[in-house]
Amino acid sequence: MKLWVLTIILFGIALGDLSDADKKRFDCHPEKDASQQNCEARGCVWSELQSSDSFLPWCIQKADKIGYKVTAQNGNNYTLMKNDGPKSPWDTDIQQIQMVVKSIGKVLNVKIGKDGRYDPPVDLPKIAVDSTDSLTLQVNDKSDPFSFVVQRQSNGRRLFDTSIGGLIFTDRFIQIATYLPSKFMYGWGENIHKQINHDFTRYLRWGMLARDEPPDSGSLDTKNLYGVQPFYMVLEPEGNAHGVLILNSNAQDVTTLPAPGLIYRTIGGNLDMYFFPGPTPEDVITQYYNFIGKPFLPPYWALGYQLCRYGYKSLAEAESVIQTMRNAGIPLDVAVFDIDYMMRYKDFTIGSGWENLPAYVNQLHDWGMRVILIWDPAIQVDYDTFQRGISSGARFIEWEKSSQVQNALNDLYPLTKGKLTMLGVVWPDRHVAFPDFLDTSGQTAKWWSAEFQQFYQQVRFDGSWIDMNEPSVFGTNEQDPCVIVFFGYYHNSDHPNAPPLFCPTSGDDSYWENAPYLTQAVYQYDGSALYTKTLCMLARTANRTQPFYNTKNLYGWSEAKATKAALQGATKQRGAVITRSTFPSIGKYAGHWLGDNTARWEDLQTSVIGAQEFNMFGIPYVGSDVCGFIGATTEELCLRWQQMGSFHSFFRNHNDNGSPAQQPTVWPTVAAATKKANLFRYRHLPYLYSLHFAASLRGSPVIRPVFFSFPNDELTPTLSYQFMWGPAVLVAPVVTQGSTSVSVYLPGGIWYSIFDYLEYQSVAPGKNDYPAPTTSNIPTFIRGGYIVPRQNPNVTTVDSRKNPFGLLVALDGTHTANGEMFWDDGITIADDITTLDYHRFQFKFFDAPTSGSLTIERTNKANNVPLPTLDEIIVCGYSNTPDLTAFTINGKQVNVNMQTSSYSPFTQILTIKTNNLIDLTTAETILVKWNAKAPTNNHENHVRYRFNDLI
Ligand code: NOJ
Repeated sequence: MKLWVLTIILFGIALGDLSDADKKRFDCHPEKDASQQNCEARGCVWSELQSSDSFLPWCIQKADKIGYKVTAQNGNNYTLMKNDGPKSPWDTDIQQIQMVVKSIGKVLNVKIGKDGRYDPPVDLPKIAVDSTDSLTLQVNDKSDPFSFVVQRQSNGRRLFDTSIGGLIFTDRFIQIATYLPSKFMYGWGENIHKQINHDFTRYLRWGMLARDEPPDSGSLDTKNLYGVQPFYMVLEPEGNAHGVLILNSNAQDVTTLPAPGLIYRTIGGNLDMYFFPGPTPEDVITQYYNFIGKPFLPPYWALGYQLCRYGYKSLAEAESVIQTMRNAGIPLDVAVFDIDYMMRYKDFTIGSGWENLPAYVNQLHDWGMRVILIWDPAIQVDYDTFQRGISSGARFIEWEKSSQVQNALNDLYPLTKGKLTMLGVVWPDRHVAFPDFLDTSGQTAKWWSAEFQQFYQQVRFDGSWIDMNEPSVFGTNEQDPCVIVFFGYYHNSDHPNAPPLFCPTSGDDSYWENAPYLTQAVYQYDGSALYTKTLCMLARTANRTQPFYNTKNLYGWSEAKATKAALQGATKQRGAVITRSTFPSIGKYAGHWLGDNTARWEDLQTSVIGAQEFNMFGIPYVGSDVCGFIGATTEELCLRWQQMGSFHSFFRNHNDNGSPAQQPTVWPTVAAATKKANLFRYRHLPYLYSLHFAASLRGSPVIRPVFFSFPNDELTPTLSYQFMWGPAVLVAPVVTQGSTSVSVYLPGGIWYSIFDYLEYQSVAPGKNDYPAPTTSNIPTFIRGGYIVPRQNPNVTTVDSRKNPFGLLVALDGTHTANGEMFWDDGITIADDITTLDYHRFQFKFFDAPTSGSLTIERTNKANNVPLPTLDEIIVCGYSNTPDLTAFTINGKQVNVNMQTSSYSPFTQILTIKTNNLIDLTTAETILVKWNAKAPTNNHENHVRYRFNDLI
């Protein structure tokens, strides 16, 4: 017997050997008990196939026969009737549906559904950004089932092609599928992806339902996390990219097929699909950001380093930790306080041991620091915050009718007795109710704002961290919640065991709970349900107009919107909101942290991917719990996480209750590495802030996968653990234990190191190892052709902002470089960013044989924003010999400090450094010029050093 025959018998067919038909199987039995009998009872086909892929389905739909026929067409409106093919395996097919096609600028919208069904009420601005390419739609209206194709006009590439079959539309089960033009797909969330690109070598189904579910990076895990992001991007074979948003807020999942293709399933609403043409990856994101709403501009201080932990016993303990950081001179801007500060975990209260919080916050402000406080949405129903809510007409999520009310709970409290309020258990000692932030009367948002304002009179907080907003509920439908350990909440000495919420699981009241298809969020686990860790699906929301079944995924979105308004109303400043649960367009209101990760190397790795994904999703203010939240971190892991996290916009060290302390000062090595990394970050904050400004003004990502800048380079689409900081800087963090070097891929072009090793010198493109001892910053590079604005760092952003600016100029092959800087006061409310009082500078550098020149053009001028002077210009790759004695600014001779300035023809680094060198306020265009002569020795030119050459 040949070896390969033996292998197939033992292990099944390797995926590459599957027939085309077997690469596009539509799973008909996602539950764990698939059998021929169960399968055939659903009208599906049982087809056993031994395969190396344990997820390859054996119970499959006859997808090619399933679908709709076009029976009428009126312009772009198609009437679709269920065909004679097999019926939906779940629920009853809706016989007639509509497909409406629209163009919104270059964005193509295909909506399949029926009037009256739920559409998420997210107020998308749908600004139509232009594209150099267009999309066309072909409807195969004669075929049965009908299908459609979205094509790229410039090359005819089929981007979305439903001829794969399987269109199903029922009340509580909807399915659409497509072939994909390549295997390089990115996005869909919120899930843990261990690779930036999806895996088409096997079948995988990803859950999308907002749930209080800590990420698990330890192994492949396709479970749903805190938010829902039905958006993906595909990089096409020609290097073009397109994006697709499916705007739907029900529980959903997506299956990737080896074809390559995908199956999208949702259990309510409509299929409202938007296609973004690109053609570059960055174009896709710009189109997407403009369409869903450009992200909020974080205040400048919110880009500073943040320190937090859950489980401080008192304010004094937190104060002493912050003091150690200050003593160590580690840049730190924000103290973040978790639920410990509250009186028994009730919002808008201060607990015992924390009485001094208001005074301490003032002290932090005096030091130039800021404060973010946590708020949970769940409100205990027996104290004045809830009382004020009720009296002011705020709405809380309710049962549908009185017969369903869990009177044993509601009767405990005068304010809920005899009412429909749905009660649950979260952190507070007694039962809680959930504000209905989708309330269109505005009363709920008004009450929330009033509570913020009142509390602000007590504590001058600056930012708001909104947690548990999936919303999370402890122990729902668990007879003894102790059996399933739930954050250690039940049977924990810190909490009384308040009886949990019970949702109906049978009879008419379970219509939503027992939807025929429950999605991966349920199938992933034994004993799980849609209500798991949350409220009942039948609960009434949005002023009782909608079941929670439709709106659950919008809870975080609606809370973030109300909270941004409340925060700004109270503080009268821009402030920052950080939310755990997300939905498309939430970036307008809030940033996101990646949730309760574990102190593990794998979690450091996946947070590098998570931040890239959330930048694609329109939420560029994102980061992870640095050093790891759950469990005990290690010195080395914490050090590496601090270094990596220092490049994420939201940069916070956060730790779980009970885990050992992990602030950087716990270990001298981590303190030293953090100080160094933070000083690097603070030096580059003018660049990071300008990236955010551009994101909010124009709609561009801040952190990007490397393929965004190099879509035609075949090695970039799978680079997961290197990323770009804007278009100019590439970061290659250390993400594995024990590493002292990083293997880095620098795509073609000119690059310069900007970390300890060969700092500012040219390095070779391609794959090379770079040293990364713990005492050095992680490998970081600037791309030739870019100018990065910088500023001398200090220990807070308030102090850094007073220091002189610098420019880091990286020349490309044409001896030029360009860049920009936005600068405002960093705190004024910026809902319409165009009305902000801000400066914008554009920088252009040219290294000519007889002169060097830098043009600084102020293209937007602020009236009232102070500008430090620009005292330093560092040029990488400067090839001519400068004569700085002939240095002029707008034609006027200026003396350059020769002691602090230098040039080396060997390293080709030119440093011009002089106190008060350039006053940026003097003119709208500033031309800085000096003489130069071409190098005499050619050997000095174009030298490239590699790691091994010099160590
Ligand atoms: C869950 C959050 O994800 C975590 O960051 C926080 O520390 C705890 N809740 C306590 O508030």
